[in-house]
Amino acid sequence: MLVDERLPSLRRSPFDTIAGMSLTVTEFEEQHIDSAARLLAARQVADRRREPSLSAAFESPEALPPMLEKLLQQSKGNGVIALRNGEPAGYMIASPVLPAPAQLIAQFFPPRAMNVPYEGHAVAPTEDASLYRDLYASLAGKWVSAGYFEHFVNVPAQDAGACEAWNSLGFGRELTCVIREVDEPVIGVPAPGQSSTEVHRAGEEDIAVIEALADALWVHHTGSPIFTPFMRDTQESERELSLELMKAPANAHFVAYRDSEPLGMNTFMKQGFLPPLLPAEECTYLWQGIVYGHARGGGIGRTLLAHAMDWARDQGYRLCVLHFYSANISGGSFWLGNGFRPLEYRLRRHVDERIAWAGR
Ligand SMILES: CC(C)(COP(=O)(O)OP(=O)(O)OC[C@H]1O[C@@H](n2cnc3c(N)ncnc32)[C@H](O)[C@@H]1OP(=O)(O)O)[C@@H](O)C(=O)NCCC(=O)NCCS
Repeated sequence: MLVDERLPSLRRSPFDTIAGMSLTVTEFEEQHIDSAARLLAARQVADRRREPSLSAAFESPEALPPMLEKLLQQSKGNGVIALRNGEPAGYMIASPVLPAPAQLIAQFFPPRAMNVPYEGHAVAPTEDASLYRDLYASLAGKWVSAGYFEHFVNVPAQDAGACEAWNSLGFGRELTCVIREVDEPVIGVPAPGQSSTEVHRAGEEDIAVIEALADALWVHHTGSPIFTPFMRDTQESERELSLELMKAPANAHFVAYRDSEPLGMNTFMKQGFLPPLLPAEECTYLWQGIVYGHARGGGIGRTLLAHAMDWARDQGYRLCVLHFYSANISGGSFWLGNGFRPLEYRLRRHVDERIAWAGR
C-alpha cells in the first residue's frame, strides 16, 4: 500500500491555490525557466551585496537557464512556482537523493532524502521571505506521502530572512560552507626554525597515509556533539576518489610530518562541492582538514593552512571554500578563527515517520 493511501489529508494536490491570498502555486515546468532565472538573478544581487565573493556574472538572468534546466531534469516533478496576481513571486525546485550505500555520497545523505540545492529557490525582492514557507508547504506533503522524511535545503548564510523562514519550519543547521581569500595571511603560524613540522605534498604512493588521516577525520565526526555516522561501506569509494584526485595537479594533498610521523593533512579538490553561484575558476575547495588528536593545539593546523594558502595563491586561485559540520566544535572554531566566513548553510529537517500512521 502506498503511504499516501493512508494519509487522506496529504493527498490534497500540492498545487492548490493558497486560500486567502492572491497567490497561486503551480507545478514548475520548462516554460517557467526564464522567470526563475530572473528571480534567482535578483537574489544573487542581494546576496552579493552581503557576500562580495559571489559571482557578478550570475546577476544576469541570461547566465542562469542552463543551471535551472539541469535542476528541472533531476527534479522529477518536485518543483513549484508561485505567482502573485499572475506575476512570478518565487520558485523552489528539489531533487530526490537516493544514494547507493557504498558510494561516498551515502556519507553525506541518508538513504532517502529530498534536497533543495543552493540555486533551487528564490523569492522576488518585493516578497517577504515567509513565501518560502508556502513553497515548501506546497511540496512537502507530497514528499512525506512518498516516504521522504529527510528534507534538506541549502541557503545563503547571510540571508537572515530566508534562514528565519526555514528555521521556523523546523530546519536546523547541519553543514556550514565557508569562504576566505587565499591571500589573507594565516596569523600565528610558528616561524620556520621554531617548529619541527614539515609539510610535504603527497603522491599516489602515500595513499595509506591519506586514508589513515581520512579515517581519523570520519571517526572524529562520529563523536559528540556531531554524531555523523561513519559508513565504512563507502571507504573504497573514497579511496578511489583520493587516488583519482591525486592524479591532477590542481588537487594537492598536503601532509604535515614531525620526525617522519604523519600528523595532519589538508587536501584539495578542483571545484569540489562549491555552491554554484561562485566564480568557480577562481576557487579551490578544501576537502579534508585534520590533525591527529594527540598533535592538536600545537600549530600544525595553522602551518598546513598557511602552506596550502601559499600554494593556492601561486596556482592563481583567489578564494578557498570548505564545508564543516556545524556541530564540529574544533573544526568550526578553527576555520572561523582563521579567516573563513559563512557563505551557505545546509539546513536539515527530519519529519517524524510516525506521521505515516499515527492519529489519522
Ligand atoms: C581543526 C584542526 C585541523 C586544527 O588543527 P590544530 O593543529 O589543532 O590547529 P592549531 O594548533 O594550528 O590551532 C588550534 C589552536 O591551537 C593554538 N595554537 C597554535 N599554535 C600553538 C602553539 N604553538 N602552542 C599552543 N597552542 C597553539 C591556536 O592558537 C589555536 O587556538 P584557538 O582555537 O583558540 O584559535 C584540528 O583541531 C582537528 O583536526 N580537529 C578535528 C578534525 C576536524 O574537525 N577537522 C575539520 C573538519 S571540517
